[in-house]
Amino acid sequence: MFWKNRWLSVAGILAVSAILLAACAPAAPAPKGQLQIFSWWTTGGEAAGLDNLYKIYNEQFPDVEIINATVAGGAGFEAKAVLKTRMLGGDPPDSFQVHMGHELIDTWVTTGQFMEPLDSLYQQEGWNNIFPAGVLEIVSQDGHPWSVPVNIHRANVLWYNTAILEEHNLTPPTTFDEFFEVAETLQDAGITPLALGDVGIWASTHLFETVLIGTLGAEDYRGLWTGETDWNGPGVREALENMKQMLTYVNDDHAALSWDQANDLVINGTAAMTIMGDWVDADYVAKLGTKEYQGFGWAPPPGNAGIYDALSDTFGLPANAPNREAAIEWLRLVGSKAGQEAFNPVKGSICARTDCDASLFGPYLRSAMQDWTRDSIVPSLAHGAAASEGWVTAIHDVMTVFVTDGDVAQAQAGLANACVDAGVCS
Ligand code: GAL
Repeated sequence: MFWKNRWLSVAGILAVSAILLAACAPAAPAPKGQLQIFSWWTTGGEAAGLDNLYKIYNEQFPDVEIINATVAGGAGFEAKAVLKTRMLGGDPPDSFQVHMGHELIDTWVTTGQFMEPLDSLYQQEGWNNIFPAGVLEIVSQDGHPWSVPVNIHRANVLWYNTAILEEHNLTPPTTFDEFFEVAETLQDAGITPLALGDVGIWASTHLFETVLIGTLGAEDYRGLWTGETDWNGPGVREALENMKQMLTYVNDDHAALSWDQANDLVINGTAAMTIMGDWVDADYVAKLGTKEYQGFGWAPPPGNAGIYDALSDTFGLPANAPNREAAIEWLRLVGSKAGQEAFNPVKGSICARTDCDASLFGPYLRSAMQDWTRDSIVPSLAHGAAASEGWVTAIHDVMTVFVTDGDVAQAQAGLANACVDAGVCS
């Protein structure tokens, strides 16, 4: 007992001395210079969220000049190609947006010495206890965390104009059959049933992933990415048939519009619905100027009830970031409670952290927070979570042809080949 007490008091003295020493130690000099942050966040809600982070950063570090290196184009369709050229050319930004999962790990972590592991930052900030275990697992490889998640987005949401549905006595369709009935009624009334903006083909892939989920269910959808669900089977064929029929109800100019321009059709009443991720919530907030936007509602797409098709935007630290100190402070902010509470309510996403104040968020996001804890979680295809980038690109190529020719057999064969080429199917 004596030795135990004695030991405790020695330990206590040592601990107090360590705290005093730390307090007296010269603080690390505040970062200076330029900090280049690379992302594709240029639309209203996206830019507003990013700007909120920049403001906090500059309050903390006024001597750092932030360079907002954005490349427009939803889902990083253009940005990712630019990033690749820069990274391979030895010209990385200080930090860049990258989706959690395959997009991060397969592209930048396991292919070379591109990223710096973030173990000490995670330890300093206590993030191992703050991010959900599933998220920690996905940002990690070989036991090290490789990026900092700023949010959780949901890809499978059907957004609709409430006045149009009410006027025609319709409710949001929960099954594909209901969807086609609702779409017929709307089309007869001269309204575009479903707004699509696939100027970047990812938006069609995005629609297709919700159709795969709605047709196959969560378990068989997950099996597509592990080789357990047969791409040549009847489920995928049915999904392609559903998708083909849905495409008969979209706006003619879909190939010329972006996702947010498609949402404009829902806002101005030309179209009744759009199926898109919950960055649409931020689009309403930015365009209508209120978190409690009236006149627009949300529901799961057909067959998607109880399933959360998830993705996360994260930021990483390139191995040779030009301003490493400033980048580390950026990552600290991105993962912080203050940062996530400033960013997510205007970005249309929920916090990756588990301790954000729900009262800061609008009604859609509060509902998403509940769904996140109780729904079955599946990984998003179009946003880097489900499959490697090469595999996603192969699926984009299949979709590019399918949206114009609607050839189900050819598309299914292309999808099955893509799985083989990805090394997941034999
Ligand atoms: C996703 C990204 C979201 C949102 C969306 C549209 O890939 O994760 O944050 O920006 O693209 O651009």
